[in-house]
Amino acid sequence: MNSDLVVVGSGFYGLTIAERCARELGLRVLVIDRRSHIGGNAYSEAEASTGIEVHRYGAHLFHTSNERVWDYVTRFTAFTDYQHRVYTNVGGEVFPMPINLGTVNQFFRAAHGPEAARALVAEQAAELAGTEVSNLEEKAISLIGRPLYEAFIKGYTAKQWQTDPRELPASIIARLPVRYTYNNRYFNDTYEGLPVDGYTAWLERMADHPRIEVRLDTDFFDTTQPVNKAAVVGQVPVVYTGPVDRYFDNAEGELSWRTLDFEEEVLDVGDFQGTSVMNYGDEDVPYTRIHEFRHFHPERDYPKDRTVIMREYSRFAETGDEPYYPVNTATDRERVLAYRELAKGEKDVHFGGRLGTYQYLDMHMAIGAALSAYDNTLTPLFRAGARLG
Ligand code: FDA
Repeated sequence: MNSDLVVVGSGFYGLTIAERCARELGLRVLVIDRRSHIGGNAYSEAEASTGIEVHRYGAHLFHTSNERVWDYVTRFTAFTDYQHRVYTNVGGEVFPMPINLGTVNQFFRAAHGPEAARALVAEQAAELAGTEVSNLEEKAISLIGRPLYEAFIKGYTAKQWQTDPRELPASIIARLPVRYTYNNRYFNDTYEGLPVDGYTAWLERMADHPRIEVRLDTDFFDTTQPVNKAAVVGQVPVVYTGPVDRYFDNAEGELSWRTLDFEEEVLDVGDFQGTSVMNYGDEDVPYTRIHEFRHFHPERDYPKDRTVIMREYSRFAETGDEPYYPVNTATDRERVLAYRELAKGEKDVHFGGRLGTYQYLDMHMAIGAALSAYDNTLTPLFRAGARLG
């Protein structure tokens, strides 16, 4: 094998490691991915009939307050000044999200100032004062009161988890922030925007280096491929960003995930919903949200008479489904600890990324974690001529 490092997975984690190691350490890096495209879940492509950029694995909004990550990503792409805002359609009305003064006043048909709204929500949240909260519903009521919970959290959560919120653990929600201003910007980060030329152009620029080879349609566990786990581990250092349980043949049991189903439609209207993401809170609407991709790039010259929408449905993942969000039950947490112990024994393999660590990571977190792993694990070991540990 004429590579110094094999990276399994061409998502942001894998590509950041590959780019740093090739450019800064002069290593020959082979990146493999079992999919037929680069970029992991951040991949996007133009819908064929309209040219509208569609995020294939759900809407991806870039935001960060991490200066190092911002400095790094802006080497590969410029960003638009897009600011994300979300609305929710519930009970035949549309409200701004996250819950803010506008939402509260619209919902209660009131004109409260911040203090009056705060007092109202506190009074409603006091319903369960003095009782031990034992499930998600009670926790949410104790945070924002029953009326807001029933309108904005109950149906949406039940659909996300296919489970009655009274049967979900309280631990799923730590906080339910209510903003007592009219600010409905979704993210609070210093930097926010979308890549000017799209995600795939950005991802391709990261991989565009003479010492990086990307091999697609190559599954690390397919022994008919020349580069596979049995052939590579122990021969050359590996950065593995696939599912950690799969790496160990599910020896400690399968980790549980939620997955999403996407239903894409091209409509003969110039604008379907007037915004990029509309949540649907009613339980009798089967999808959780609709994305309308043209609104991510108002600066582009998209067709005026056609639009692309994508309905999103949420469910528990079964074997073979794409893993999206860790469920993180107590059993999962025990299993993750057991896998971490096993991983320590894999002397020349570094586990990273959202699948390799069983964590939800935003893009900036995956990139930041990869930059840290590059500094703290890969650089010292390659400089010392040693293997990964
Ligand atoms: P990622 O999953 O992207 O890449 C892993 C790669 O490994 C995949 O390409 C996979 O095919 C490959 N692989 C797995 N097993 C393999 C095997 N056996 N052999 C070879 N290759 C294998 N973040 C954000 O900042 N803003 C946002 O708005 C969103 N939105 C969003 C929506 C949805 C629905 C999800 C699920 C996630 C987001 N994210 C997000 C998070 C974002 O997708 C995440 O940060 C990155 O995907 C993380 O990159 P990784 O490289 O860790 O994993």
